[in-house]
Amino acid sequence: MVNRADIGVIGGSGLYSLLEDAHEVDVTTPYGPPSDSISVGRIGGRSVAFIPRHGRGHTYPPHRIPFRANMWALRSLGVRQILAPSAVGSLRPEIGPGALVIPDQIVDRTQGREQTFFDAGAVHVSFADPYCPSGRAAATATAREAGWDTVDGGTLVVIQGPRFSTRAESQWYAGAGWSIIGMTGHPEAVLARELALCYTTLSLVTDHDAGVEAGEGVTHDEVLAFFAANVERMRTLVSQVVEALPEERTCPCGNVLDGIKLPIELP
Ligand code: ADE
Repeated sequence: MVNRADIGVIGGSGLYSLLEDAHEVDVTTPYGPPSDSISVGRIGGRSVAFIPRHGRGHTYPPHRIPFRANMWALRSLGVRQILAPSAVGSLRPEIGPGALVIPDQIVDRTQGREQTFFDAGAVHVSFADPYCPSGRAAATATAREAGWDTVDGGTLVVIQGPRFSTRAESQWYAGAGWSIIGMTGHPEAVLARELALCYTTLSLVTDHDAGVEAGEGVTHDEVLAFFAANVERMRTLVSQVVEALPEERTCPCGNVLDGIKLPIELP
């Protein structure tokens, strides 16, 4: 059994049994334990480590996820590219439930989450373009080929949660031109960048957020039911995108720390 993988998938429930020949690994990190044990196995020709973002029993709500431990653990297994599927709400009438958005920007509206590995020294990573360009291109092309209603680009607003947004907040975000809203995309993306990992998110739209919807606003049951109904499609897509990710990295993600004196040693 080899405890290493090239690609990391951080996923929700229903994606657990994605891997072939999988075994479980318990990884310890300087930031405490990750959300759960990590499954290491294969998808087609690629070696993959899967971590359930919220833990298998949904132990961690979005604001309690051990983001640093999760990212550190994946890197320590050899992972250099991460695929992060998640459920999001839509801030735009024309992007409906069932659409797949591959965002290219993030607005961070979270508070109090640990969002750096560099608590000493002077490390300021570039984050102007938070997602891996090669991963985004592979995800967009693969999803389109598989027949998904795919939106290439857009801004993901990440809120602290666990509550959903008020109508006024939602309309404010939409008015700013942002597209989708979720609770977990940050600090996942920046922590990946700080570890020089490629990071690509697959955002499955499960609902129209409160500012778009005339009814009672989004409910957790609605999000869960929609996600459950689409989990098979999502599993297939995640596998297809994993296989489409480049074998060799030619994007800038792996070089962001070049020439910088790091206050800690990366795994
Ligand atoms: N996840 C799924 N739908 C959401 C919404 N409307 N707001 C925040 N996070 C979500």
